[in-house]
Amino acid sequence: MANIPTPHINAPEGAFARTVLMPGDPLRSKFIAETYLENAELVNNVRGVQGYTGTYKGKKVSVMASGMGMPSIGIYSYELFNCYGVENIIRVGTAGALSPKLHLRDVVAGMSAYTDSNYGHQFNFHGTLAPACSYKLLSDAVAAADKLGVPIVPGPIYSSDVFYAQGDYSSTPILQKLGIMCVEMEAYALYLNAAAAGKNALALLTISDSLVTGESLPAEDRQTTFTRMMEIALEIA
Ligand code: HPA
Repeated sequence: MANIPTPHINAPEGAFARTVLMPGDPLRSKFIAETYLENAELVNNVRGVQGYTGTYKGKKVSVMASGMGMPSIGIYSYELFNCYGVENIIRVGTAGALSPKLHLRDVVAGMSAYTDSNYGHQFNFHGTLAPACSYKLLSDAVAAADKLGVPIVPGPIYSSDVFYAQGDYSSTPILQKLGIMCVEMEAYALYLNAAAAGKNALALLTISDSLVTGESLPAEDRQTTFTRMMEIALEIA
């Protein structure tokens, strides 16, 4: 495969499985590898962005962190899709609820991603890009969630460049009016990169806080909730 190692991934050809699970946090990547994968090997550690490849129920699977935000997941997903031959990236992250119908711990599957980001300007498209998840990954995720007894809510999501919104910035009312489920910071760039490379992506998101009620998940609950979402991702890898 061309251009490897890349500036951000120091792994040999064939180091990654066809499917890479992508949490934001490098320590989550390590946790997933140690908890779920057999014979997990560290395949990347540039900038501490830990990537592992092992097997789950006999299937080769990789897990690598994305970092936070669209520039970061943009880099890693680009290199995995275009330089390492990866076919599927499943983001496993957290999100803030925008819909009053969502509760803490719910699992959302992002069908499409709205954004305030300029990430799509690189394509010089004189219109509005509307990237969507892979239908196959989504339908597999819904089937796996049903089998595991985990409720899953597919719907549109919002990928924002801004975590701490200052001034008169909030898009929350219009997003709620449009029925957007939740806000996170990566899916839009991931879905666009997948589309441009002819590959597949899906964002699975656990609701960790609510912009409607102001509540947030206690740290100790995050692990348990995250585990249910991970099992869906591993089943469809
Ligand atoms: N905003 C953006 N990203 C997030 C949030 C949020 O409230 N919660 C978890 N990821």
